Amino acid sequence: MQAINVSIGFDARLWAQDIAGSRAHAAMLGAQKILTAEDVAAIDAGLVEIAAEIEAGTFKFSDALEDIHTNVEVRLTERIGDAARRLHTGRSRNDQVATDFRLWVRGAIDDVTAQVQDLMLAMATRAAEHAGSVMPGFTHLQTAQPVTFGHHLLAYVEMLSRDAGRLHDARRRLNECPLGAAALAGTSFPIDRYATAEALGFNRPTANSLDSVSDRDFALEYLSALSILAMHLSRFAEEIIIWCSSPYRLISLSDAFTTGSSIMPQKRNPDAAELTRAKTGRIFGSLLGLLTVMKGLPMAYAKDMQEDKEPVFDATDAISLCLAATAGMVRDLTADTARMAELAGSGFSTATDLADWLVRVLKMPFRDAHHVTGQIVRLAEGKDVDISQLTLEDMQSVEPRITAEIFGVLTVEASVASRVSYGGTAPANVAAQAKKWLEQLS
Ligand code: ARG
Repeated sequence: MQAINVSIGFDARLWAQDIAGSRAHAAMLGAQKILTAEDVAAIDAGLVEIAAEIEAGTFKFSDALEDIHTNVEVRLTERIGDAARRLHTGRSRNDQVATDFRLWVRGAIDDVTAQVQDLMLAMATRAAEHAGSVMPGFTHLQTAQPVTFGHHLLAYVEMLSRDAGRLHDARRRLNECPLGAAALAGTSFPIDRYATAEALGFNRPTANSLDSVSDRDFALEYLSALSILAMHLSRFAEEIIIWCSSPYRLISLSDAFTTGSSIMPQKRNPDAAELTRAKTGRIFGSLLGLLTVMKGLPMAYAKDMQEDKEPVFDATDAISLCLAATAGMVRDLTADTARMAELAGSGFSTATDLADWLVRVLKMPFRDAHHVTGQIVRLAEGKDVDISQLTLEDMQSVEPRITAEIFGVLTVEASVASRVSYGGTAPANVAAQAKKWLEQLS
């Protein structure tokens, strides 16, 4: 029974929240004259000492005492005697754990958000530096049109800002205090739930006692937000892995973020990116795991809910590592801008620019221009050259009205510079966006 029932091995991580919750509860019991001022003073001093013991590593956590709540309460009784036995008046472990866990998740949201913002700052900084560095833009991982490296990085800054927004939304909904809902029905003592809510930094008390002790939406919302964030980090990790691979060589990472091979001395493996990609699995798993724990539970509390903590802790640890590693890689990476420009020009990446010129200058309907461009690309393919290397005569053999002016739009630099539509990849746009983000983030 003890082996399946015990949770102290993981819920010890709630100790600071448990002590904060108990101190707020005791102070409120005193203010409401439910406990005497002497008892409250003894409880508060005892709890502060226990916090110091835990911090110093001298506190003895006991499996026999099941969880963090009982461990702290029993230790308090050892230290201050009878007054400790009055602390649990007007509450239950059910509202206690719900409160502790909300406080923990709220703190985690703040920590993860700070890390997301740091990653955004790292990316926006590199984006400003590379606002004009041309690289191949892909669709279907086929060379499509040239973009700038700064533009590519700012795409992730947009994703991350939505991730931060989701965490912010989750925090706002989470920030109500279940303490005082007691076991499930509320309490007959004249407690002041507004006072404890305020003392713990919540906006208000939760409104329904049954919901208070059995709601884990806040943890699920947090894990949902982490899952989407992890998905974004995994996509970026995948790009780093591709960009570092020898056929691409668009970027390189230093020894700080790569590992060597045990038998192939030339290799530098992007392990930090690979592990970031892989840890997505445990984060998604945490969300699915907790959704499954919750899905069949009747009102109100059931011990199933003790299984809410490990997935949240594990996902938090994983996302924190992934964010730190990704920010580290972004700051560390060296972009091979010559190689980027070379690949940006391969694969007929300026074919759209040719078609656009036919539309703009010759007033061709776009569909016809698309067809003419296709013929010119096939001609270039047959001669094994880029379209910019064809002669004017070659071009005119397909469309006689083409003039030498066409060669002005076929370079990758001209291509990106022309993409001035709002949100487009023109270096001036990218520089302005990077500047906006840098101002916002610093
Ligand atoms: N360790 C428990 C949990 O995490 C605390 C609540 C226990 N409540 C109870 N009625 N047994 O859920």
